[in-house]
Amino acid sequence: MAVNIPHHIAIIMDGNGRWAQRRGHSRVFGHVRGSSRVKGIVREADRLGVRALTLYAFSTENWNRPPTELKVLWRLLKKYLQREVAELDRENVRFRVIGELDRLDTDVREVIDSAVERLSGNSGLQLTFALSYGARRELCRAARLFAEDCESGRRHASEMNEELFRQYLWTAELGELDSVDLVIRTSGERRVSNFLLWQAAYAEFYFTDLCWPDFEPRHLQEAIQDFSSRERRFGAVGEKAVRDPRSRSDGATIARGPVAKI
Ligand code: IPE
Ligand code: IPE
Ligand code: MG
Repeated sequence: MAVNIPHHIAIIMDGNGRWAQRRGHSRVFGHVRGSSRVKGIVREADRLGVRALTLYAFSTENWNRPPTELKVLWRLLKKYLQREVAELDRENVRFRVIGELDRLDTDVREVIDSAVERLSGNSGLQLTFALSYGARRELCRAARLFAEDCESGRRHASEMNEELFRQYLWTAELGELDSVDLVIRTSGERRVSNFLLWQAAYAEFYFTDLCWPDFEPRHLQEAIQDFSSRERRFGAVGEKAVRDPRSRSDGATIARGPVAKI
């Protein structure tokens, strides 16, 4: 079946705790299982031709969890990166992180920095982990940085527009790929939980009752098939409706991704 592949998929990997508790285990066991799912989903996204994949792994609000749970989450992140970095490199994956990274422990930062550095020359799938991430923080930070640039005379308030604002966001390095085409949330919750509020302004949303530890590559395919059947209108009607606002003035459009058979 031929489907349009979204350029940028963002996933809210939710439901680890409930998945474990329903099976009589502690919440952290769910995180262990959940973290082992990441590899297969990254690989499948890459195989299908997705260009950017952003995974919500830890929110600014998640700092309110018990210290024991936090410890496990950061340990699992370190382990994932240490274990997978070589294969990600072989697959030409570029890795980035977005969020308030200065809140992370030094040992976690070191592992992240080393993975980012090692994969920085790659040009394939743009993989981003949202860690200690909150969209409201991101937007406030952008406003603050712009205000500082105005104070120092580098910018003037009248220059502000959407194109410039994007450059102050954590996702700036993604360039035109910063806009999310498809947001997937597992676990049956139907909310955004402070994720990519700017970037997902015109994203399609896909919710599944499956908890993250049960989310397999075939479920990613199902989400993409569903996405492929949607009519994206971007507020317009008629012929213009299928045009992504990111379309360039020369008429080229990046609204529709590659067509793949899945
Ligand atoms: C997602 O699973 C992982 C993180 C938020 C870190 P949860 O830990 O939120 O699991 P539930 O939603 O409580 O089941
Ligand atoms: C959102 O899940 C954050 C991540 C998946 C990392 P949460 O479980 O923290 O969100 P709420 O509390 O259900 O909104
Ligand atoms: Mg949750």
